[in-house]
Amino acid sequence: MKKCVALTGAGISAESGLQTFRDSDGLWEGWRIEDVCTPEAFARQPQVVIDFYNERRRKAAAAEPNAAHKALAELEKYYDVQIITQNVDNLHERAGSSKVLHLHGELDKLRSTADETDIMPWNGDQKPSDCDRYGNPLRPHIVWFGEAVPLMDKAARMVCGADIVMVVGTSLQVYPAASLLHYARSDASVYLVDPKPNLNGVRAEVLAKKAAEGVPQLVGELIAAARREQG
Ligand code: APR
Repeated sequence: MKKCVALTGAGISAESGLQTFRDSDGLWEGWRIEDVCTPEAFARQPQVVIDFYNERRRKAAAAEPNAAHKALAELEKYYDVQIITQNVDNLHERAGSSKVLHLHGELDKLRSTADETDIMPWNGDQKPSDCDRYGNPLRPHIVWFGEAVPLMDKAARMVCGADIVMVVGTSLQVYPAASLLHYARSDASVYLVDPKPNLNGVRAEVLAKKAAEGVPQLVGELIAAARREQG
């Protein structure tokens, strides 16, 4: 099977009702990154940060995968599909994608502030008093600005190995995630689905459409190509 990597961002979840970050009605219009999305913010005002993620966790739990998430799950019948997402919601998994790498963490997990490998599933609200088994406070399992992106090397290797790279719903403004595209092989087919595409010099075939329309269209074309190759 050919390998297909889908690099997704907040735009793929927009039609599921979840805010993006940098659109006019985005999260960073209502919140300052330095107040809710840095380790310093968590040290300074943990309740504000915990409340921010509690609200996002509730909204993500209430959201449903849309046609774009579902189309990528369907694609697994014809390609070896690896999702690399900047999103912290679990809509790809709930749509049926079996290989999902979260570059920036996951809303439905918390981890110990004393041991970053002590990660636990968490579906409800976090309270500041919630602790690990040794009594250390917990924190959202999210990569905050200024923190390392532990899965970046693994993600880069996946893009290097891809025959097809799809970029869906990301402004490609946040590094190192945005640099992943540069790992695409010169012989790889690269597609970008975004209603307001910002190529940043990227070599890609652009579908200037919303994800729920553009991704099923692209997936349909890829499935037809796979069927032709299978004869
Ligand atoms: N379908 C497809 N794309 C869409 C849609 C849609 N319905 N609506 C908006 N978009 C596009 C926008 O045009 C934009 O290019 O999605 C992109 C959203 O960009 P951002 O809001 O910057 O989100 P993202 O690229 O995922 O942000 C990256 O920044 O704040 C950090 O950690 C956070 O993971 C996040 C990272």
